[in-house]
Amino acid sequence: MSESTVRITVNKGASAKIEADIIEVTLPDGTVEQKNGKAFLCRCSESKNQPFCDGSHKECEFDA
Ligand code: FES
Repeated sequence: MSESTVRITVNKGASAKIEADIIEVTLPDGTVEQKNGKAFLCRCSESKNQPFCDGSHKECEFDA
């Protein structure tokens, strides 16, 4: 991993936005998904596309 700034923004009642040039997310089965620029990780556990946010937080009572 190269040295660069990674910005993580935790959004109230929603996802955590990660911003970096290249984001590599290793999934539980070992596969790696690469995102360029930004990724949104689910914090409410309702997403059908874990670990990524799919907007389902808008339909639940998640408030953290
Ligand atoms: S935070 Fe968006 S679906 Fe969970």
